[in-house]
Amino acid sequence: MAMKTQACNETGSAADFLPAAATLAALAVAAEKCHGCTLYCHATQVVFGSGPKNAKLMLIGEQPGDQEDLAGLPFVGPAGRVLDQALESAGIRRQDVYVTNAVKHFKFEPRGKRRLHKKPSGRETAACRPWLEAEIKVVKPRMIMCLGATAAQSLLGSSFRLTLHRREVIEDTPWAPALMASIHPSLLLRIPDAEQRHKAMADFIDDFKMAARRLKKVST
Ligand code: URA
Ligand code: SF4
Repeated sequence: MAMKTQACNETGSAADFLPAAATLAALAVAAEKCHGCTLYCHATQVVFGSGPKNAKLMLIGEQPGDQEDLAGLPFVGPAGRVLDQALESAGIRRQDVYVTNAVKHFKFEPRGKRRLHKKPSGRETAACRPWLEAEIKVVKPRMIMCLGATAAQSLLGSSFRLTLHRREVIEDTPWAPALMASIHPSLLLRIPDAEQRHKAMADFIDDFKMAARRLKKVST
């Protein structure tokens, strides 16, 4: 006998919800109605990218976390605080950067009162990619930095290995004149040993310093 489930339909792609007028505001409003995959069913709201439409640098994370899901803004929780620190240490102002995610709805597993982050599948990431591509088309960043494997693989394909290609600048991509991948800041929150954590943070900051230098090159 069929179980009664919440009506939860997916079309398979965010492309079915793209608006005719591609401004960031129009995209963000249209994304509220997206059911390209089933992640919209359980999340509080869509978390669209945020930042100036003429930003030279775009950062792409994985997906909103618990706090982002509640606030409706990307990188405002613990991972966002790590990101803010790294940006500041590298001399990059967050208000100059466009910050978004590969997947726009929070995927989680309920555990008591808590909601534990669950990695989005390749299918969900692919379904959501039209939003990311639309954001890139509007912002036209000079440089893209993918934070973590999910973001990097969304653009570069599932065979991309972050462990092998971190910090390599890829030039003349279909999305920006320069693109590089770094780790996801939430990784730093999961390193228990203080010394190792500080070292990993220093490397993360170096990635942003490198991005800032490259950005100067591709912006002139
Ligand atoms: N992790 C992400 O990848 N994105 C966010 O917005 C928050 C946490
Ligand atoms: Fe649409 Fe992306 Fe949300 Fe899936 S995660 S429903 S594709 S906006």
